[in-house]
Amino acid sequence: MNPVIEAILNRRSCRDFTGDPLPEEHVELLKETLRWAPSAGNRQPWRFVLVRDRGVRIRLGEAAYGQMFIAEAPLIVVVIALPEVSAKRYGDRGRGLYCLQETAAATQNLLLAAHSLGYRSCWVGAFDEGGVRRVLDLGPDERPVALVPVGNGTYTEARTDRVPTKKLFRDIP
Ligand SMILES: Cc1cc2nc3c(=O)[nH]c(=O)nc-3n(C[C@H](O)[C@H](O)[C@H](O)COP(=O)(O)O)c2cc1C
Repeated sequence: MNPVIEAILNRRSCRDFTGDPLPEEHVELLKETLRWAPSAGNRQPWRFVLVRDRGVRIRLGEAAYGQMFIAEAPLIVVVIALPEVSAKRYGDRGRGLYCLQETAAATQNLLLAAHSLGYRSCWVGAFDEGGVRRVLDLGPDERPVALVPVGNGTYTEARTDRVPTKKLFRDIP
């Protein structure tokens, strides 16, 4: 199967990590896939914090309402939107929509790249933004939008369900 399609179809969220560190060349590849996500007008309204420190990972797990599985991963990538960078060119549409779509695209790149390299990951969106801001000492224009633990998983989760195709798509032939 085409490797991109394979990754899209077979990637699954992981909530149980072994903690083995990632080799630096894999971390560099993951960083490249974040950098090369698309963005409106190529504004790239994002920053990424790579957290390997165990103490900081634990504090992020606490800020994620106690989802401590994220602290067990050797790496947590914190995806940060820069709404004012988008707003500078696109006003409210940039601030309220584009920068969130663009950081979501970057996040999906990361999940698929991690899968391709044989790692597991999980897109974690349930966290206290103020808590994550404090842990990472973020500025007022930096909005944390996703925490992504990446590492080796201890088992493969069952395939999650999806809404059936015939309910989802409407054809206008
Ligand atoms: C915006 C967003 C927020 C999410 N937040 C969490 C979260 O806080 N904790 C968690 O365990 N999973 C979270 N997930 C993962 C979803 O639960 C998961 O993608 C979904 O159940 C489908 O399963 P799959 O990823 O294995 O296909 C989130 C996913 C997205 C896209």
